[in-house]
Order: sequence, then structure tokens, then C-alpha cells
Amino acid sequence: MSEETERDVVRGLKDVAAAETRISYVNPSGSLYYVGYNIDDLVGRIYYAEVAYLFLYRRLPNQRELDKFSSDLVSQMVLPSEVIESIRSTPKTCHPMDVLRTEVSHLGEFDPEGGSQTMNANMRRAIRLIAQVPTIVATLYRSRNDLPVPRPKDDYTFVENFLHMFKGTAPDREETKVLHRLMILHADHGFNASTFAARVTASTNSDMYSAVTSAIGTLKGPLHGGAGEKVMEMLDDIDMEEHVEEYIQGLLDDNKKIMGFGHRVYRAEDPRTKHLRGIVENLCHRQRTMSLYNKCVKIEKRVHDRKSIYPNVDFYAAVAMDALGVPKEFFTPFFCCSRVSGWAAHTIEQYEDAVLLRPSSKYVGEFGRPFVPIEER
Ligand SMILES: CC(C)(COP(=O)(O)OP(=O)(O)OC[C@H]1O[C@@H](n2cnc3c(N)ncnc32)[C@H](O)[C@@H]1OP(=O)(O)O)[C@@H](O)C(=O)NCCC(=O)NCCS
Repeated sequence: MSEETERDVVRGLKDVAAAETRISYVNPSGSLYYVGYNIDDLVGRIYYAEVAYLFLYRRLPNQRELDKFSSDLVSQMVLPSEVIESIRSTPKTCHPMDVLRTEVSHLGEFDPEGGSQTMNANMRRAIRLIAQVPTIVATLYRSRNDLPVPRPKDDYTFVENFLHMFKGTAPDREETKVLHRLMILHADHGFNASTFAARVTASTNSDMYSAVTSAIGTLKGPLHGGAGEKVMEMLDDIDMEEHVEEYIQGLLDDNKKIMGFGHRVYRAEDPRTKHLRGIVENLCHRQRTMSLYNKCVKIEKRVHDRKSIYPNVDFYAAVAMDALGVPKEFFTPFFCCSRVSGWAAHTIEQYEDAVLLRPSSKYVGEFGRPFVPIEER
């Protein structure tokens, strides 16, 4: 047996620090920092665009810088006509995440700076991607519903434009506030699976579109960003609040996972949950939201009593997105609309680190098998 097979495997790379980062810190005891700022000090006090700026420049913008950054984002929201056509031609039956993954890759074909990999080119590319992912999502949603897609307007902020393009109406104040908070809370989260996927791709010196495409494919899975859609399926499946306990008991008795619960890093409540729960509480004047919220509170108590685990970001975010009128199959695409800022910043940080991310594995197969030519097998 060779030395190679003696390596220890860290299953799931649990607790393995794969690189250094200055973008965000996930503290297992239940706090989250963006470039040194506790998210509790940011949520409700800044705009999503400030967070995207913070990730890219690693400092908060002043008013002049924010105005310029926001107007750059809005001016980059228009998609190449080929991408719009391609979105319109996708079958209505395929999942929106499949379309988003393909169209982000497609955007790479139209990058105005071609293969330039300078820092400045990548910063501009990051801004284009942060601006265009929401437009892909809005275009897909509108075209699936045979509705026209409004053009971005200079007198709306970036987040207002996203709402306007998705819903086709002037952005509502309350909904804009909710969307800012949701986008801030989803913007980055350490070395989660999709960010790691983006960094692995970037570590080969591949381009940012490839890195973000890898990330989207990874976020799609129900153990990661796809959990929100499953949360809503569960909430819809529980016909009445009174049936929550029985339903959850049934899942746990069958050793099934409760979607929107548990976390690889946090040993306490996910610090994003209290903000998301608060957002939903403020939306409880809407009857459907109130009913979903009541189910959520009961589920949370039941799961905690049985398993001592807490809800993660996807649990209450599902209800908040539902209140914004987002259909459940668009929850993960909405997640991408904000996480793209984290992915782009991590891609740039990985280029700076300039090291190939390439772990080893422990070989547990056979050695010395006698070769048999094909005609004798
Ligand atoms: C997020 C997640 C993948 C983390 O996984 P992980 O770090 O590998 O942790 P494990 O899956 O090994 O879980 C550890 C223990 O908690 C339990 N657990 C974790 N999440 C659970 C959940 N959602 N429902 C029920 N039990 C859960 C596991 O069954 C396991 O129990 P055991 O030790 O008795 O076997 C996992 O919690 C999960 O699948 N959650 C549901 C999907 C989800 O909401 N994903 C979004 C994440 S932000």
C-alpha cells in the first residue's frame, strides 16, 4: 500500500480552512461580519448597493461614491439582445435556475472586455454581473408570464429597478425596504459551497463568468440555496396550522431532514434568522403571510424541541419572498441576485491569492488488478 492511501479524509471538508478571506466571517457562536462590520449594525441602515461596494472595495462608500456605483449598476442592467432572445426561447417547464446558470455563462460570450484579466477589467465585470443577474431573473419571470419587461429607469435605485422590472409596477416602498434587507442578508457567507465552487474555478485562472456559473450550479442544490423552495413546498403541504406538529413529527420519525433548518457552521441561531423573522412579522398584515408565519413559529419550536437545531437563512426568507409575490421556483434565483456580489468579490480575492485550489483524496480502490484484453473480457 502506498503512502498516498494513508491520508486522513476530512469528510465534507468540515472545519477545513481552505484559504484566507477578508470578505465575510461566519462566527460559529452566531454572528456574521461583512468586511469587519457585524451584519446587525448594517441591516436596515444601508442599501444593498453599499454592501456590494463594501465587498468589492473592502470599505463602505461615501455618498458620492455610492451615487456613482448605483448609477453604474443601473446603467449596466440591460442585457445583450441575444441573451434576451435565448431566455425567451427556453421551455417553460425547465427550472429557472437552469436558465440562470446557462444565461450567466452566455453573458460571458458578450463580455465587452473579452479575455482581459486585469484587476480593473474584473472590477468592471463584477459590476456588470451584479447588475445583470437580476435582469436575467426578471426577464425570465416576465417572459414566462407573457409580460413585457420594463427597461431600467435612471430615477430608480438599483433595487427599485429590480422590483420594477420583476413586477412591472412602480416599486412599492415597503417591498423595496424588504428587498434591500433580503439582499443584504443573502449577500455573502464565508466559504459556503457555492462560494467555494466559484473560488475553485477562479483558482485555475478561469474567467469570472465561469466562476459564477459554477457557483449557480452549486447554489441550486436543496442542501444549499435550493432549500428555500423546499421550505415553501413544506409550508404549502401543511394544510392547517393545527397539523404542524403531526407533520413535523412524521418527517423526523422517518429520519427526513426539515428544510430550512441546521447549519454546517453555526452552533447557535443563524444571526440572519432574527432579521428575517422580523421582516416577516412586519408583513403579517398580509393574510397569507400571517398564516405562513404562524406555521413557521410552530415548526421552529417543534424542530428545536426534538433536534436542538435552529432555522437557517432559507426558512423565513421563503415567507418574505412569498410576501413579495415571488413564486417559489424563483426563490433560489432571487438568492443569486444578491449572492452574485459575494461570488464576484471572492473570485477577485482568489485571483489575488493566486494559488490553485486542488485537494487530494484518499484512494480506497484496488491495486494490482491483472489486465485482461477486451476480446477476453
Ligand atoms: C445545512 C446542512 C446540509 C448541514 O449539514 P451538516 O453540517 O453536514 O450536518 P448533518 O447533516 O451531518 O447534521 C448533523 C445532525 O443534525 C441533524 N440535522 C441537521 N440538519 C437537519 C435538518 N434540517 N433536519 C433534521 N435534522 C437535521 C442531522 O440529522 C444530524 O443528526 P445526527 O447527528 O443525529 O445524525 C443540513 O443541516 C441540512 O441538510 N439542512 C437542510 C437543508 C437546508 O436547509 N439547507 C440550507 C443551508 S443554509
